[in-house]
Formats: sequence, C-alpha cells, structure tokens
Amino acid sequence: MRIDILTLFPEICRAPLGESIMKRAQESGALELRIHNLRDWTTDKHRMTDDAPFGGGQGMVMKPEPIFAAVESLQRNDSMVILMTPQGRRFNQEIAAKFSSQQHLIIVCGHYEGIDHRVTEQLADLEISIGDYVLTNGAIAAVVVVDAVTRLLPRVLGHEQSAADDSFSSGLLEAPQYTRPAEFRGWKVPDALLSGNHAAIAAWRREQALARTEQNRPDLLSKEDR
Ligand code: ADE
Repeated sequence: MRIDILTLFPEICRAPLGESIMKRAQESGALELRIHNLRDWTTDKHRMTDDAPFGGGQGMVMKPEPIFAAVESLQRNDSMVILMTPQGRRFNQEIAAKFSSQQHLIIVCGHYEGIDHRVTEQLADLEISIGDYVLTNGAIAAVVVVDAVTRLLPRVLGHEQSAADDSFSSGLLEAPQYTRPAEFRGWKVPDALLSGNHAAIAAWRREQALARTEQNRPDLLSKEDR
C-alpha cells in the first residue's frame, strides 16, 4: 500500500513512523510512505499556506491552492483523500480495516484554525477525527491513522493472529496478560493461566474481557453480553 502525508510539519510524522514495526513495514515493501511538506506546493514569494478567515474571527485558515496542487500531483485513479480534522468522523478499528484495503491513501493534515472548506467539499473523500479533543496539529492524528492501518497490512505483524486477537476486532476489550514471575511482591498470576488447561484459560479470558469491557467501555457491550 502507498500512503502520502501532506503536512506543514513533516518532522512530526517522521520519527514515530520511522521506528520499530513501521520501519520494518517500509523496509519489507508492505508500506510505501512519503511525507511531504505542503509548503513545497506554494507559488508565491512568501510561500504562504494560510490567510485570515473571511467574515472575521480568530486565527488563520489554510489556503486551498497548495493543498489542491499537492493532492492533484499525487492523485491516481485508485487514491482515497482523507482530511484530518476534529470535525471529522471518529476513527475506529473498523475504519482502520477499510483503509487498510485501499491501494493509496493521501492524508491531508490541518493546522491553524481550519482548512478552506472547498478542500473538504471538492477534494477530500472523507474527514477523519481521531477523538473528541483538539490537537494543535493534524500531523499527530495522521501518525495515529497510519500506524493503525499499517499494522493491519498483510505480513506486517509477526504472526497474522495478532491483529485478529486485538481489542475491538472481537467487540470486547482484551483480557489482562501476565508474564513471569508467577508471583511478584506477593501478587500472584491467576491460577487459571498457570493451569495449562486450554478450556479453562479461554473461559477465564472471556470472563475477564467482559468484566473489563463493562468497567471501561460499557458502550461496546451489546445487549446479549450483559
Ligand atoms: N486536528 C486537531 N485535532 C484533531 C483530531 N482530534 N483529529 C484529527 N485531526 C485533528
């Protein structure tokens, strides 16, 4: 899969997407990632990417021209254009899975008070928010989306199972995990996990997953689980 990120702050994206699993995904060819500076598509002397809002108000608005020029220079007939903004549809595992089946994503990162709405209406396929809070910069949100999508690509994770077992893909949060030592400061690992009995372990995990979901994310539970 190919992903192009368009941002005024490429460095915000580079480090988190250049380490560990994201680094290996690129080295193996599973992900072709390009991080671009939107300013490279400005044509004026001052390389302006923002301007004051029509109608007045605080802050600056990102100008449409460099964004249209950048997207149009990168766009193919199989591209999906995503705009990172707190006004977007809330990102989740299901959307990550849909994105991971695309051939090409172009992710446009907002900054300042907003982006000229003609970008939203005429250029973007959809607007995405990573949660109900406002970041200083859409590049941080783009990193989250690229990471969540990339780990779902074939052969990126160690064994294919690991993504299938994730919290959210089963509809429940994951059960707690433990490792050695079996006792630490007097706190013991639950007996079921040490039993070697696969049915007992599966039953314990299911029960714990339900309890954890009920406690932390009751909104995820369907009526039949309660
Ligand atoms: N830009 C600022 N806040 C954001 C958010 N929550 N999601 C996506 N882009 C953003």
